[in-house]
Amino acid sequence: MKMRVFCAELVKMNAIWAVKPDVTLRGVPVYKGLLKPAAQKSLVMALRNVVQAAPLYTPVVASGKAMSVRMTSAGRFGWFSDRSGYRYLAEHPSGTPWPGIPPQLLKLWHQLTGLTREPDCCLINFYSEGAKMGLHQDRDEADFSWPVLSLSLGDDGLFRVGNTSRSGKTESLWLSSGDVVLLQGDKRLVWHGVDRIRYQSSGLLPAGGRINVTLRVVA
Ligand code: SIN
Ligand code: FE2
Repeated sequence: MKMRVFCAELVKMNAIWAVKPDVTLRGVPVYKGLLKPAAQKSLVMALRNVVQAAPLYTPVVASGKAMSVRMTSAGRFGWFSDRSGYRYLAEHPSGTPWPGIPPQLLKLWHQLTGLTREPDCCLINFYSEGAKMGLHQDRDEADFSWPVLSLSLGDDGLFRVGNTSRSGKTESLWLSSGDVVLLQGDKRLVWHGVDRIRYQSSGLLPAGGRINVTLRVVA
């Protein structure tokens, strides 16, 4: 408990590099329950506004297969995929601008990374019952020296991490609502994915499901 208070002070000082993560998964830091329940609730409300302005869509991969996760984004760029492949778009596929990134997420980004640079993209992934995400690298951004911050909300998700190459050992950990993962430094390009969710394990979203938001510097 004492340690958590001490850490909160360091977070305020923008010196998260000095804060020990609660767990590491193959060297990837995981901050358990960093976002408290009240903050999770208000963030969900902010994300509802984002989804209202920029509706969730089902990305399709180059093979033509639909992903089970639905997505949308906030920020200057949004991540998109169709038969032509993965890319960032400056507008929602409907042609409307992406909404702004909720301020509480920007605050979390600055506090946890210590960076003054803002993220360009807040990708919102929505996992309903049965949704999952195969192992992949986040490598559609221009400069991998910027971190990716990932926050989980709602139902638990089994997060799997491998290596910076496709092969080799992988390990998994259940991410719960409020948990934050940072992909940075020599772990920025690790292969990762979500094997499954525990549908309705959390009461945060009335209809169940898991939200994952990632903050990224794109351009
Ligand atoms: C992602 O890799 O884009 C999502 C990871 C997660 O849902 O935790
Ligand atoms: Fe990813």
